[in-house]
Amino acid sequence: MERAKTFLTSTLPGRYYYDPEIYALEQQRIFSHMWICVGHIGALPDPGMYQTTIVGGENILVVRGQDRKLRAFLNVCRHRGTRLCAEATGKLKGSVQCRYHAWTYGLDGQLIGTPNVSRDEQLERTAFSLIPVALELWEGLIWLNLAEDPPPLAKQLEEGLPAGPDFAPFLRCGLGQLKPGKTIAYKMRINWKVFVENNLECYHCRPVHPELCNTILPPIPHEENAGLRKSVKLADGVEAYTITGKASRPPLPGLLPEERRDFYGVIMVPNVLLTVIYDRVSLQTFHPQGPDATLINSTWLFDPVAVASPDFDPMDTVALDDFFIQQDKEVCELVQLAMRSRAYQSGGVYTANEIHLGSFRDFILNKLEREIE
Ligand code: FES
Ligand SMILES: [Fe+2]
Repeated sequence: MERAKTFLTSTLPGRYYYDPEIYALEQQRIFSHMWICVGHIGALPDPGMYQTTIVGGENILVVRGQDRKLRAFLNVCRHRGTRLCAEATGKLKGSVQCRYHAWTYGLDGQLIGTPNVSRDEQLERTAFSLIPVALELWEGLIWLNLAEDPPPLAKQLEEGLPAGPDFAPFLRCGLGQLKPGKTIAYKMRINWKVFVENNLECYHCRPVHPELCNTILPPIPHEENAGLRKSVKLADGVEAYTITGKASRPPLPGLLPEERRDFYGVIMVPNVLLTVIYDRVSLQTFHPQGPDATLINSTWLFDPVAVASPDFDPMDTVALDDFFIQQDKEVCELVQLAMRSRAYQSGGVYTANEIHLGSFRDFILNKLEREIE
């Protein structure tokens, strides 16, 4: 397609959003080589509690051991390969037993039971432990890395994107100690990058989320807008970020008084959006499920004192976010529908309102065009 000359920056070409070969490369070079966030430790407080997640095409079991340590394993029995835990979350009683031939593993991954295998067979159990996956924690967030010998998570977080994220407000409100109040999984018919890009700009906020712009002010012009920094705040007369605008919980204790009305967020590449406002932190993790399918796990985190209260009900703030996420879903799915069109063969453009999308595009191009070390 011929395109008029412009000073605007080009987006990724359309095929980056549907081509199975590009998807496979991303799975290999991004999702199998970078640290990928799969949730918050608050969801797994007790020994035996587990969750399963797909990372880089692998189903992975994250489980808290009897020693309270969190570990991650490929969710595959070493006998004949049965998936061990089929549910998204659950609680194990001290071990995990394969339902096919009852091989049993400790929560530390050691093979501890192999019914009816005779001594003559010389089965060396230590050689058939579950295959471990690298796991690191950062402020309560659980990160996995499928690489053989991955660099420390801290290195990836330092590199950040797009302009060196400032995590200070999240650290001040004790992100690692917060408790989940609600979790929702959203399935969207989009390529994962469509959702990242949607969250890297608020140019769409006024047309897509008019209600949001009446609740929290729209971003100020791009030259003052450092991404999702403190560019938006609660509108006058609005007490809290809830469906009624009224506060039902106090603000997060760690926030500075001048931060309590700010909406503040960061994207942590490749798959996290963290936002904080007033009394809640929202953690969204993005999980590609195919070239045009993405699972978005949203967890709303609150002060533990608020969650322990008998009348705790997070839905006043969750319902507001859910409403905005549905609006984003609708428009992002419209984007995905157009990616195969010849009109988008060479992509579109970013305006100055969307300055951070260029950094994300370059991140993708760098990852895909560089050979794996
Ligand atoms: S496949 Fe798991 S015990 Fe046989
Ligand atoms: Fe949006």
